[in-house]
Amino acid sequence: MGKKKFYIETHGCQMNFSDSEIASSVMIKNNFEITDNPRHADVILINTCSVRDNAEQRARNRLKNLTPLKKKKKDLIIGIIGCMAERIKEQLFEEEKKIDLIAGPDAYRNLPRLIETAAKKSKAINVKLSREETYDDITPFKIENKGISAFISIMRGCENFCSYCVVPFTRGKERSRNPETIIKEAKNLFSKGYREIILLGQNVNSYKWNSGFGFVNLLESVAGISPLLRVRFTTSHPKDLSDELLYVISKNENICMHIHLPMQSGSTRILNLMNRKYSREWYMNRIEAIKKIIPGCSVTTDIISGFCTETEEDHKSTLSLIEEAGFDYAYMFKYSERPDTPASTKYKDDVPEEVKLKRLQEVISLQRKLSHKSNINDLNKTFEVLIEGESKKNKNNFYGRNSQNKVIIFSKQKNYRIGDYINIKVTGCTSATLIGEVE
Ligand code: 5AD
Ligand code: SF4
Repeated sequence: MGKKKFYIETHGCQMNFSDSEIASSVMIKNNFEITDNPRHADVILINTCSVRDNAEQRARNRLKNLTPLKKKKKDLIIGIIGCMAERIKEQLFEEEKKIDLIAGPDAYRNLPRLIETAAKKSKAINVKLSREETYDDITPFKIENKGISAFISIMRGCENFCSYCVVPFTRGKERSRNPETIIKEAKNLFSKGYREIILLGQNVNSYKWNSGFGFVNLLESVAGISPLLRVRFTTSHPKDLSDELLYVISKNENICMHIHLPMQSGSTRILNLMNRKYSREWYMNRIEAIKKIIPGCSVTTDIISGFCTETEEDHKSTLSLIEEAGFDYAYMFKYSERPDTPASTKYKDDVPEEVKLKRLQEVISLQRKLSHKSNINDLNKTFEVLIEGESKKNKNNFYGRNSQNKVIIFSKQKNYRIGDYINIKVTGCTSATLIGEVE
């Protein structure tokens, strides 16, 4: 008898992708083998997202596609893990009759035991949230093993309680991971050939191990591993983005010049209702600080259209702040009410669906213009690019990213391999990518 096989698929944010590597590592330590084909699996795990309703619907649809596999394999175990497991808890057994296992984001060490329980046809569930769990002793198993860029989760949970957001309820208390284990993991990845580390947290700026060691210290320590190792991080909260951090980025060549700074809205009134703890002016002050301290830094953002009570005037404020900030890229969403969040209990989801959609469209089309403008602005500039792989569309091309996190496509060069740095001059662009040639 060979080893039992598991298949894992991930929905949602980068933190979920990082968590799937932890869950996989736990499975492999317990004698399971990973497969990328659900038909070959004895256990199927779907790592889910709850941040918007459509993410949950997607997971439910996926479940519908996968459950027929149970007809062919009677003992197949299907588990829902992650944020949706945590949000809906045991009720998910009622709603989705075909699932056997439910595990929240802090229960992944428990997966083997839950699988044993499920194998006995008992309901297997663990949705306990922890104040301490950071999985710091678990070496994540790299699922998408391209071997150049890796996430490292540096903290878990969130306590900001933005009123629209389900994350504080699905991921629990904020806790920072022991920096020694983070640095060890980064060194280990570098020695295996990785050239880029992305430090992950819901609000990395509030990373704190002790009074003398915060995010800035961590960032410098990871950057100090090697000048050949690029360091990125996400997500920053505008209320906590300090000048000190900006100076550290500008001082260290290998800390990338890109800040993801979710704005959410351009109206101070709406920002207050969202409990974001900053005003439009504060947000713009942070953008100006970034541009001043790190010339050439790119800024990307998240925007929500149609939050409770949003008026046409609030929406215009969002459009004008997007324009003022001149984002290089944005992730744009329409507000989706999440059960039991502060907004759902305090405010009415009163912006009609068609108005939400219209406003979102206006935000998207404005941002598309700005992204294109940002790319046009890069024409004739030369960037150091980390080569990440072969272009899918054309095997004669490589693709990579510059420090600003923009993708650049260029023709393959003799003597250059994936994982090398190369200077590329931008010669063309679309609104999504830059095209270049070797300098
Ligand atoms: N509706 C729409 N978008 C949301 N986000 C978080 N919660 C919601 C919600 N209820 C967005 C925010 C956040 C990003 C990860 O998802 O913009 O920054
Ligand atoms: Fe949600 Fe706000 Fe925490 Fe981000 S900072 S995860 S939006 S509560």
